[in-house]
Amino acid sequence: MIRTENLTKLYTMNGKTLAALDHVSLHVEKGEYAAIVGPSGSGKSTLMHILGCLDTPTSGQYFLHGKDVSTLGQDELARVRGEEIGFVFQGFQLLPRLTAQENVALPLMLCGVPPQERMTAARDLLEQVGLGQRLRHTPSQLSGGQQQRVAIARALARRPSLLLADEPTGNLDAQSTEDVLALLDQLHRAGHTIVLITHDAVVARRAEKQIAIAAGRILSDSAKDIHAFTKFSPKIITK
Ligand SMILES: Nc1ncnc2c1ncn2[C@@H]1O[C@H](COP(=O)(O)OP(=O)(O)O)[C@@H](O)[C@H]1O
Ligand SMILES: [Mg+2]
Repeated sequence: MIRTENLTKLYTMNGKTLAALDHVSLHVEKGEYAAIVGPSGSGKSTLMHILGCLDTPTSGQYFLHGKDVSTLGQDELARVRGEEIGFVFQGFQLLPRLTAQENVALPLMLCGVPPQERMTAARDLLEQVGLGQRLRHTPSQLSGGQQQRVAIARALARRPSLLLADEPTGNLDAQSTEDVLALLDQLHRAGHTIVLITHDAVVARRAEKQIAIAAGRILSDSAKDIHAFTKFSPKIITK
């Protein structure tokens, strides 16, 4: 479902060009639950932005459902993003003045789904994530783990083909982390395709496949020991 071929992203600062992603080739099949794991600075967010159609690579290709999306313009990219991808972030990013149900209904409102229909859909989604009793709570009336479950329900509202979660447990305590990981397990069993991005090897092991990244490069199986990460630093291509 997802396939990248030699994705490379270069950033130039102070006359130095750095390869945040260096020929990244990976694939994630439909219905698969994959973790992309690596330390800070390894290129995870850069990769997530490209996989999420928020950014394009400097070179290389990204195929989503077999279609090359690496060369699309901003408008086309935004359309693919809205239709295909559900995002979950470390900081939840819920709107504080809206109820849980309104937060989940928001993406549907923005694409023109009528009020009654979108509120019913939001209720069903909140029931799916175990928050059927919290429809009218605002984010501040919910625990961190509950807020992240609302954010996951919102990410699913437009029935994306890919759920992309960047450090979804990064702000959570142990119990809430477990609740969110259990929900991702449940969604995986229900057939969702999930890419989880994390620096935490323990969290990554919950996925069925781990893709290790260090210094913008995918590590081979033999190098997946987390301690191997420290040996790498990003390649600097000085002009
Ligand atoms: N907009 C940018 N401009 C310049 N350098 C960047 C930019 N974004 C990321 N980088 C660099 O690219 C590398 C990878 O960053 P990032 O993808 O954020 O890693 P991670 O999410 O794994 O911490 C880092 O060395 C970072 O400093
Ligand atoms: Mg990051």
